[in-house]
Amino acid sequence: MSAEENQWPDNFDLRETPEIGEVIHAFITEELEKLKIYGGQRPKDSKYIFHEHAERVAQNMKKTCLHMGLSDLAAENMYWALLPHDIGKRTLPIDIWDKVEKPSDELKRQRRSHTTLGAEIAREKLAAIDHPFKDLMIDIMLNHHEEMDGSGYQGLPGDQLSAPVRLAAIVEAYDGWRIWRPHYGKRDISIPGVLERMRTEKGPDFFDMELFESFAEMKMNEYNSGSKK
Ligand SMILES: [Fe+2]
Ligand SMILES: [Fe+2]
Repeated sequence: MSAEENQWPDNFDLRETPEIGEVIHAFITEELEKLKIYGGQRPKDSKYIFHEHAERVAQNMKKTCLHMGLSDLAAENMYWALLPHDIGKRTLPIDIWDKVEKPSDELKRQRRSHTTLGAEIAREKLAAIDHPFKDLMIDIMLNHHEEMDGSGYQGLPGDQLSAPVRLAAIVEAYDGWRIWRPHYGKRDISIPGVLERMRTEKGPDFFDMELFESFAEMKMNEYNSGSKK
């Protein structure tokens, strides 16, 4: 097994240590409920519903892991690790997400801080827990907006990003681009359209292309069998 494959979380099973697993699962469930309540304060016509995005991204992560031939355990751990990736958003002022004007640098900085704010919540609430799942979850919270060429939120290049983080960045970006927003204009946001844009316009500067092609193949298999998600 290569070093990269070793990064996939199949060396622990939270169900085998319920004293830890139950605390972690309760934390994630509660935080998603808080994110849902927080998001409920946004305008009714908001399309990018935070807790629904979280569930879609986690499901796509799980399906990609299974498509890549990873174990059920690794896929399940990755599903749970993705669910809370955006919980830090709920600590920010609600009106920053739905501004129609082009975002200022300050607004961008504020929005981007959801990554570190989420990690702070997790570290504080799970302070008593020392477990590789917690490390994986926080790694994804902190780094899911990084790009391979180092031009993401925190400027970490691809060789400093774990494989789970690199796949999280792909699945997360896809979901964002599948939801139409006013500045998209006539952009093709169909499943093949978004995948093609990710491949040709974004490409290796943004994404780990080997992981991307695994994800794209899984989505196109679904698409060709009739799924429009
Ligand atoms: Fe995010
Ligand atoms: Fe996200």
